[in-house]
Amino acid sequence: MRIATGSIAVASLASLLIACTGAEGDDPPAARATWYQDVAPILANRCMSCHQDGGIAPFPLTDFASAKENAERILIQTDAGAMPPFDAREEADCTPRFGWVDDPRLSAAEKATLHAWVEDGHALGKVADIPAIPSSELPNVTRTLTPVEGFATAGDRDQFFCYTLDPGNGNQVAWLTGLQVNPDITEVVHHAVIFEVQAGAELDKLVADHGIGRPFDCSQQQIPGNFVVHIWTPGNQPMQTSSDIAVPILPQSKLVMQVHYHPAGTAHAPDRTSIDVRYSPVWPKKMYFVAAFGNAFQAPELLPGPNDRGGVPEFLIPKNVPDHREHMRITIPNLGDLTDVRLFSANPHMHLIGTHISGTIERPAARGDDPRQECLANGGWNFDWQRTYTYDAPLDKLPTVQQGDVIDIKCSWDNTIENPFVQRMLKDANLGTPIDVPLGEQTTNEMCLEIFGIAIPAPPAPLAHEAPAIKLPRWGLNMQALD
Ligand code: HEC
Repeated sequence: MRIATGSIAVASLASLLIACTGAEGDDPPAARATWYQDVAPILANRCMSCHQDGGIAPFPLTDFASAKENAERILIQTDAGAMPPFDAREEADCTPRFGWVDDPRLSAAEKATLHAWVEDGHALGKVADIPAIPSSELPNVTRTLTPVEGFATAGDRDQFFCYTLDPGNGNQVAWLTGLQVNPDITEVVHHAVIFEVQAGAELDKLVADHGIGRPFDCSQQQIPGNFVVHIWTPGNQPMQTSSDIAVPILPQSKLVMQVHYHPAGTAHAPDRTSIDVRYSPVWPKKMYFVAAFGNAFQAPELLPGPNDRGGVPEFLIPKNVPDHREHMRITIPNLGDLTDVRLFSANPHMHLIGTHISGTIERPAARGDDPRQECLANGGWNFDWQRTYTYDAPLDKLPTVQQGDVIDIKCSWDNTIENPFVQRMLKDANLGTPIDVPLGEQTTNEMCLEIFGIAIPAPPAPLAHEAPAIKLPRWGLNMQALD
């Protein structure tokens, strides 16, 4: 690796030479892009958070030498849209109306800069500071909720364990505007769902049975209230909202963290996955929570597909089929007295062998700014790069959802040995050749789910000394009422 001071000397010597030869009229053209002025700022902004020493990427891209050495691969990966990882896509039949918050994709101009740098021979440029790497940590954390006792997962089957955690807001409402799951033993934490359970007899029983911060088997247990605050999957950024929209953590509520463990036949040390929470002091305009659409076992939601057996719609991905598809249509039920329900974010979810997922809404007619039909989320699927995509739109322009609208979800899978994720699934399950994959929770099962962040109006701020009147919706999967 060249050191910076040496490079200055080389550079000024080179300019001297150019100055001399320039008299004879054969100047080499100046490089269109240099490392310090053009390339390093792009990589610092878009790549170095992972591509640094100790980062999750296999090699650093933090200095001239490493970027030069990997230059051709950088062009291939960025041209293909594979790096930085971001699987939302605009396609002819499905282009969402809004862009996405924190979209890390390189612009055409940035890609052209990388090409120019490589074509012109990796010029170093004038030595300068490389811009700071943006942090992917949740800023301004209020507190970290950590189990008092870990859980040691083992065996061949996936396990679902829960921890009841105290959000620490006591008798006050806390407005949650940020949440970050910190997986402890990363190779076994397949996903985590954070529920809020309101004060009451069901919560008292939960705490009496299992205590606070201690693991308990919740594979067979419905979490009381079913109010989902956040779903974390590998690769996800922290959940973050502005202070205009927040999850209400009601007085004396508890958070239940359900962790899906994937031990893959090995015994592991106790896992103590924790969560960071951020509370906002501002009374918000909107309340935020999560609902999920998809995963249908049968008609009418699940439509007939190419590989159904006996003519009955069936969610099954047959072995050795390279492009199996399932298609589901879910009609929004009566949403009670809620009249202004909007979609804030989309978090597609499949398991290992998925390749594509899209979600569209069909309204009976255009409604205000909302067209009759619009694509809500669309993209390739990569199990390692799951993410919640937040619409880049003002809260009062977000797509609306009402009773009678239809959410249309389509998923594709490649269940052949050519799919590296099939190889990974089979290795995990100690199997040699592809198997029929049914719907289910295990990592060797599949899912087709669009998890939406939903925004509903917040009640007006209470006057001083008044108890806030906030009611959490009790909605299950597909938003059907639980009460
Ligand atoms: C969120 C983390 C993350 C970010 C951001 C990221 N990478 Fe990566 N990158 C990875 C990981 C992990 C791998 C190895 C596994 C893989 O290929 O998915 C990788 C692999 C690569 C590879 C090798 C791929 C191959 O198979 O040859 C290149 C080249 C690369 N990244 C370039 C970039 C560039 C250039 C950027 C920014 C424009 C970038 N990456 C941003 C995490 C990241």
